[in-house]
Amino acid sequence: MSHCPYECNIQDGANPVPKPTPKPDHAVEPSQPIAKKQDFEPIVLAFSCNWCSYTSADLAGINHLQYPSCVRIIRFMCSGRIEPDFIMRAFEFGADGIIVSGCKLGECHYISGNEKAEKRLEMTGKLLDLLGYGAERLGSVWISAAEGAKFADYMSDFVKNIHAMGPSPTRNKN
Ligand code: FES
Repeated sequence: MSHCPYECNIQDGANPVPKPTPKPDHAVEPSQPIAKKQDFEPIVLAFSCNWCSYTSADLAGINHLQYPSCVRIIRFMCSGRIEPDFIMRAFEFGADGIIVSGCKLGECHYISGNEKAEKRLEMTGKLLDLLGYGAERLGSVWISAAEGAKFADYMSDFVKNIHAMGPSPTRNKN
């Protein structure tokens, strides 16, 4: 039996062996295996809508309101754009907690994006429970552009809870 000279993983008389899919460049790389709960620095992603949530994060910055630096904000036009798949993939790539943040309910700039997001989050939370992550690792906050303090407080409380829960099951495996 000989191997293909072009390293395409096909051997004579055998079915092709699929190569492992490389992780995308933007994947959050889990750090070293985590020995103790208290040693770990959570990785928290905040999916924020452009119009209210992201502006409130900006306002928190302008007013020098502090929240944990482990929160990484990803801006979307509307929370209605966040699909369960984005959340599950983020956990798969090592996130310990995820927050979806958008305009106050009834004030979405795309009419009902945040209401749709809320329904999806409820369903995704159940899935996280089933998979053993815990629905508590998925948070949501609906906020106006003027509520920088609320944004900072929510992020701080959420990170505190994640810290108490410890690393996500995915990070523990690595
Ligand atoms: S635009 Fe903010 S949640 Fe839809």
